[in-house]
Amino acid sequence: MERTFIMVKPDGVQRNLVGEIVSRFEKKGFKLVGAKLMTVSKELAEQHYAEHKERPFFGELVDFITSSPVFAMVWEGENVIATARQMMGKTNPAEALPGTIRGDFGLTVGKNVVHGSDSPESAEREINLWFKENEISEYSKQVDEWVY
Ligand code: PPS
Repeated sequence: MERTFIMVKPDGVQRNLVGEIVSRFEKKGFKLVGAKLMTVSKELAEQHYAEHKERPFFGELVDFITSSPVFAMVWEGENVIATARQMMGKTNPAEALPGTIRGDFGLTVGKNVVHGSDSPESAEREINLWFKENEISEYSKQVDEWVY
C-alpha cells in the first residue's frame, strides 16, 4: 500500500487548520499511520528542502519552517501520493482551485499551509527523514477490504 508524507506548515498550525486538514484526508478514506506536532531543526529543514538549496527563497523557506511547530503525518492508501497532491492544489494558492486545501486556505507561495510528497521517491525519502520506524503504526480497520 502506498504511503505519503504530509506536513501542515507553521501557518496552518497557527491558523488552527490541523483538524480541518486531517479531516479532509480521513473523509477521503485514507489511513493515518503516523503523526506528530514538532518544532523543526534548521538541519532537518535544510535536508527536507535540499533540492531547493540554490533557489533564492531557500533561506526564507528554512526560516519559515523552523519558526513555529509543524504537524507531520504519514498517510496510507491506494494512489495516496498523487491524490493528496490533487487535494492540496497548486503550490501557488493564487492558482489553486477552490475546494483544494491551498485554494481554500493558502495565502502566498510561501505560506501555502501544507506540504505533500511529489513522487514515490520523495515520499520514501521524506517519511524516512521525518519518522522513525517505531513512530509509524501498522494496523488494520476491522471492516470491509475497500476501507484502508
Ligand atoms: S514546486 O511544486 O516544487 O514546483 O514548487 P516551487 O515553487 O518550486 O516551491 C518549492 C517549495 O518552496 C516553497 N516556496 C517558498 N517558500 C518561501 N518563500 C518563497 N518565496 C517561496 N517560493 C516557493 C513552496 O511553498 C514549496 O514548498 P513545499 O513545502 O514543497 O510545498
